[in-house]
Amino acid sequence: KATLQERAANKGIIYGAAAQYKPLTTNKRFAQHFAQECAVLVPANELKWKTLRPTPEKFNFSRSDWMAEFAQKHNMLFRGHTLVWYQALPKWFEDKVNRKNAEKFLTEHINTVVQRYAGKIYSWDVVNEAILPNSSKQGLRQTPWLRLLGADYIEMAFRTAAAADPQALLIYNDNNLEYDNAKTETKRDRVLKLLERLKSKGVPIHGLGIQSHLGASSRGFNAKRLRNFLKDVASLDLQILITEMDVSETKLLVADDRDTIIAGVYHDYLSLALDEPAVNTVITWGLSDRYTWLSHFAPRQDGVPVRPLPLDAELERKLAWNAIASAFDQA
Ligand code: G3I
Repeated sequence: KATLQERAANKGIIYGAAAQYKPLTTNKRFAQHFAQECAVLVPANELKWKTLRPTPEKFNFSRSDWMAEFAQKHNMLFRGHTLVWYQALPKWFEDKVNRKNAEKFLTEHINTVVQRYAGKIYSWDVVNEAILPNSSKQGLRQTPWLRLLGADYIEMAFRTAAAADPQALLIYNDNNLEYDNAKTETKRDRVLKLLERLKSKGVPIHGLGIQSHLGASSRGFNAKRLRNFLKDVASLDLQILITEMDVSETKLLVADDRDTIIAGVYHDYLSLALDEPAVNTVITWGLSDRYTWLSHFAPRQDGVPVRPLPLDAELERKLAWNAIASAFDQA
C-alpha cells in the first residue's frame, strides 16, 4: 500500500510528522518507517530556545544539525519549530533578558538560527501561540516577549526571519482554532485581525499554522464556521498548514471503539480542511503511539497507553492511518 506521503503527494498535499532526536537516533525501525511515511520532518523540541541555548552566549546545534542531515539524507523537507514562543525558554532567560537587551537577543537568535538552516529549512514557525482570546492588548497573550518588547515583537520576528532567509515560508502557528465555542470564535477573530494587520503593513508572512490537537470525545466542530474561517484566512493570500495534528482521549474510551472514534475524527477534520484549496500541508505531532507527548501530558486514568497517531506502538498502521490516507485520496 502506498505510504501517507505518496497518497498526499498524488493530490499536491505535503504530509509529514514531528519527531524527537532520541527515537530517531536509537530506534532504527522507527527511523525507517518515518522516512517512508513522511515527506517532512519537524523537530518536536530540538529547535526551541531551551535546546539551542545552553547559555546566553552559546548555541548548541548538535541535535538539530543531525536531524537536518537525516531529513536531507532521506529526501525529506525540514521544518523549523519555533523561533518565538513563551514556553521552552532556558532557565537563564528570566535573569539575563531585560527591556534593554531583549531586541538584541531576539534578532540575534533569529539571525543565527535561520541563517544556519537557510536553504535547508523550507518553512518556519516564526511565532507560536501569541494570541489569547480573553486578554487585552489586541488579544495578545501575556508573554515575556510582549512584556519586554511590546506588540511589535511579532512583526520584528517575521522581518528578521525574512532577511535571514528570503526563501523560507514564514508561518504564524497557533492552537485552539478548531472547535466551535465562544472562546474559539473570539480567538479566530483575533488571529484573523493579527494576520490582516501584518499583511496590511507588508510584513513578510506566508501562512497560518493550525495546530489541530483534537480530542476524541468532541467530534463536534461546526463545519460551516470552520470552513468560513479557513476561507477568510485564504482570502488574505495566505497558505494554511495543519501543523501538529493528533487526537487525544479526553474521556475513557472503550478499547474496541476508540481506534474507530479516533479515526473518525481524523477523517472528518481532514476532509473538511482539505476541501479548502489553501490547505496544502498536513503534519501530525508524532508518527507512532510509542512516541507521543500525550502519554506524558494526557495519559488515560486507567494507565492504558493512548493511541493518538497513525501508527501504533509496534509501528503497525492503524485505522487512523487509513482515515488520513482516505482523506488524502478524496481530496
Ligand atoms: O528530555 C528531558 C529528559 O531528559 C527529562 O528527564 C524529562 C523530565 O521531565 O524531560 C525531558 O524533556 C521534556 C521534553 O518534552 C522531551 O520529552 C520536557 O520536560 C517537556 O517539557 C517537553 O515537552 C514538549 C513541550 O512541547 C514543551 O516544549 C513536548 O515534548 C512537545 O511535544 C510539546 O510540543 C508542543 C509544541 O511545541 C507547540 N504546540 C503544542 C505542542 C504540544 O504541547
